Amino acid sequence: MTVAVYPGTFDPITNGHMDIIKRASSLFDKLIIGVYENPDKHPLFSLKQRVELLEKTVTDLPNVFVKSFNGLIVDFIHQIGGKVMIRGLRVSSDFEREFEMALMNKKLAPDIELICLMTSSQYQFLSSSLIKEVAMLGGCLEGMVPDHIATALKEKAPMRLPKVAR
Ligand SMILES: Nc1ncnc2c1ncn2[C@@H]1O[C@H](COP(=O)(O)OP(=O)(O)O)[C@@H](O)[C@H]1O
Ligand SMILES: [Mg+2]
Repeated sequence: MTVAVYPGTFDPITNGHMDIIKRASSLFDKLIIGVYENPDKHPLFSLKQRVELLEKTVTDLPNVFVKSFNGLIVDFIHQIGGKVMIRGLRVSSDFEREFEMALMNKKLAPDIELICLMTSSQYQFLSSSLIKEVAMLGGCLEGMVPDHIATALKEKAPMRLPKVAR
């Protein structure tokens, strides 16, 4: 049985992440989504909230599970018996960072293989940080995040700017 791990901050999950999750889950027996606490990024959603929001998003995918982790990704992957790490690639800047991390991870854990899936073109512009920015400014998130994420974002980020006078 091949277990793959898709690690990330998921603050919050977007339809771009979801696309990678669906595609990866069809390639492996089991896909574990590893939610990294990532306090350095000062996430908008707590670790517990990110895990709960993800769990709600993947209920229809029977071989996908959500777990949180701290510390090294490779240690987490070893702990759960994973063999493969999944990452998504959008733009060339993603590649440079992923390449750097991949070489380091290979040094730390030569038994783990990295598989990068290219984003589907309709999600290329999607990032959690841009989603938060748009939500903060009261923009419409339709087609960019699952409905319950849009609701959670609205609760977190009520309109902070005064309405524009017409
Ligand atoms: N729109 C998208 N399409 C494809 N992959 C994506 C998209 N958005 C994010 N990803 C990928 O999902 C993974 C997790 O992203 P993210 O939640 O930002 O965590 P991290 O802090 O590890 O970058 C990364 O591999 C990232 O490149
Ligand atoms: Mg990122």
